[in-house]
Parts: sequence; structure tokens; C-alpha cells
Amino acid sequence: MNNYHLPYQPGFPADYRPGIGIIGCGNIVRQAHLPAYQKHGLNLVGAFDAVPAATAGLTEQFGLQRIYASLDDLLADPAIEIVDIATFPEQRIPIMRRALEAGKHILAQKPLALDMAQAREIVAQAERSGLKVAVNQNGRWSPPWRIATLLIEGGAIGQVTAVTHLFDINLSWVTGTRFDEIPHWLLYDYSIHWFDITRCWLAGQRLSTVSAREYRLPNQPPESKAAWGMSAEIQCHAGANALLRCVGSSASQDRSHDFWVHGTLGTLRGSVLPDRFVELDNAQGQTRFDFEGQWFPDGFAGAMSELVWSIYEDRQPYNSARHHLASLAITLATCQSAENNGQPVQFDEVI
Ligand SMILES: NC(=O)c1ccc[n+]([C@@H]2O[C@H](COP(=O)([O-])OP(=O)(O)OC[C@H]3O[C@@H](n4cnc5c(N)ncnc54)[C@H](O)[C@@H]3O)[C@@H](O)[C@H]2O)c1
Repeated sequence: MNNYHLPYQPGFPADYRPGIGIIGCGNIVRQAHLPAYQKHGLNLVGAFDAVPAATAGLTEQFGLQRIYASLDDLLADPAIEIVDIATFPEQRIPIMRRALEAGKHILAQKPLALDMAQAREIVAQAERSGLKVAVNQNGRWSPPWRIATLLIEGGAIGQVTAVTHLFDINLSWVTGTRFDEIPHWLLYDYSIHWFDITRCWLAGQRLSTVSAREYRLPNQPPESKAAWGMSAEIQCHAGANALLRCVGSSASQDRSHDFWVHGTLGTLRGSVLPDRFVELDNAQGQTRFDFEGQWFPDGFAGAMSELVWSIYEDRQPYNSARHHLASLAITLATCQSAENNGQPVQFDEVI
């Protein structure tokens, strides 16, 4: 038992269950979005995918009420208040524009856009429309990361001085998939969750530089295209910093993504994917926090829950597209740096 009150689990308003329409029904929707929404009894009105086979069996398996024949049909349905767009960014931005024109709130998969200009344009359109646009940074609601965030916000470790992530993983599953074709996939598409949580933990600090390297590892098979190794560094003006390292060809049987957050009053350590533990080490001693759930799928309920509460309470969601801009800027800067042999990209903004 401990004295911390940490409401880390997603919840939804009892008297508000907005209709949800899914656009793009690929792997991540089947593996994580729909299982999470079903678990929480959300109002799944319907879905559309450009490839009709992608929606096969969704009504039976997840209780969706209907499958639409076109995007226009879905957007014209007044029963849908929120569209959950889970295509890749190339298709997502034009769909987001149309969804805003149709008066829908949006949960958009990450990364929000291919570049900052596109991302800023969609943020501006969202703000003009008065609709809520959230980004599916579901890692923020992975139980150990969420508990860590709440503890940091509550002052349990004082000011954050250093964030460290180690990915002890094997990326052999990427070979031959669409992900393998994405430029800087490891930084842009995968590590964005880690850049995002890191900047959440460094909130309020002034960003100074971002640098990264991406490289093939010696035991990476020749047919794999994406780099399986990377290191990235985020520096703030006052000295706080973050270091991320991916060993993507690990032969360990016991793999994880471990993290440490050092602060002026204590340290947090834990592990996600799989979500194993989170503990606080400070002057009061060492406290390990019990939790239920895993990033997949519970983090996905968290991202949607925050959007639903923001509509209900008429405020901006914590995962708003505007809030995502700094995460995307850091992510794109790591790609730029990796292209220039690790040369730092300069910043001068509070994150
Ligand atoms: N943790 C996470 O949040 C997480 C994990 C995996 C993937 N993702 C992201 O989710 C997105 C999708 O990934 P995926 O693995 O599900 O890909 P996928 O290829 O399996 O699914 C994408 C789906 O979108 C459909 N689609 C494409 N264009 C469309 C259009 N114009 N209208 C409607 N449907 C369209 C495709 O037919 C396909 O079914 C990517 O941006 C990826 O980075 C996020």
C-alpha cells in the first residue's frame, strides 16, 4: 500500500457515449483500437476502409453497427461524432480535412503528418473549426508510463534532470512489411512514442538540441531494409537531457523497453512493451506500483478517453494535435540529424 492517488486507468463519462466511426481498418485497428473500445463499451457506429476486405467480420467480432461503402457515407452519418483515422499519414491528412469540413471530432493515428507545414495546417484548420483533434499517442496511457507521468506532475521526483530509454528488442517482424519501406522508420514511426513521452516528462523545459544516428546492426539480416539500431539525444538549455538507445537485433529471450527518469528528488524506473513494473525511489524509500493492463490495448482506450472527456468538458485534450507538434518536431529533427551523420538540430522553445 502507498499514499499515492494515481488514476492511471482510462475512464469514460457515464452519460456521454459519442458515436465513433473508424476510417482505415488495418492491423492496428484490429489488434488494439477495437479490442480497447469493445472492452470499455464504446459506441462503435461503423467503419470504412478503401479496401472492402479490410472490414470483413468487424460487425460480428467487435459489434460495429455498420460498414460504409464510401468515406462520404461515413462522414454524412449524423450518428458519428468522432472519427478515428488509422490510415498512414499520406492518406490521413486529406481525410482529416474532409472530416473537419463534415463537423467531426478526430482521433488521428501517429505520426500526425509527414512534415511540420502539413501538421501546422491541420492544427490551424481544427482550431478554426472549433472541433477537437487528438493524436493517438497511446503510449502516454501505457500503465507504467502513465503512472510515471502522474508522479512527475505531482512532484514525486522534483525537477526532471535525465530521461533514459533502452529498447532491448528484436525487429525481425518488420522485414517485408510496409513499415520496412518507410524512410527512417525506426525514428519516425516507432520511436515517436518514446520522443513523445520524453517531451511530456520534460514539460516546461527549454529545448536546445536534438541529435540522432541510425545504423544497421551486425546481425541484422541483409533483406531487412529499416535500420534496427539508433541512438538519439535530446538536450535542454538548463542541462536536463534524454538518451534513447535501440538494440533492435537483441537475442535476449526476455525483451523490454526499460526506462529511467532521474529527478532532483528521486528516480522512477520501469518497463513497457511488455508493461512489467514501475517504481519510485526517493527519500521516502522504494515504492513499486501495482497496475492492471498493458499498453496494447489499454493505452488505446486512454487516447480515446482523453478525447471524449475533452469534448464532454469542452477543453483541449492533453493529446491535442497542437500538443503533438513538439513531439513531431523532435521526431523529424532526429531524422534530419540522422541524415547528417548525427549533427545536432538546434531548437529554442519551451516544450
Ligand atoms: N502504437 C501505435 O499507435 C501504432 C502501432 C502500429 C501502427 N500505428 C500506425 O497506424 C497507422 C496504420 O498502421 P497499420 O499497421 O494498421 O497499417 P495497415 O496497412 O494494416 O492499415 C491501414 C489501413 O488503411 C486503409 N486505407 C488506406 N487508405 C485509405 C483511405 N484513403 N481510406 C480508407 N482506408 C484507407 C488500408 O486499406 C488499410 O486497411 C500507421 O500510421 C502506423 O504508424 C500505430
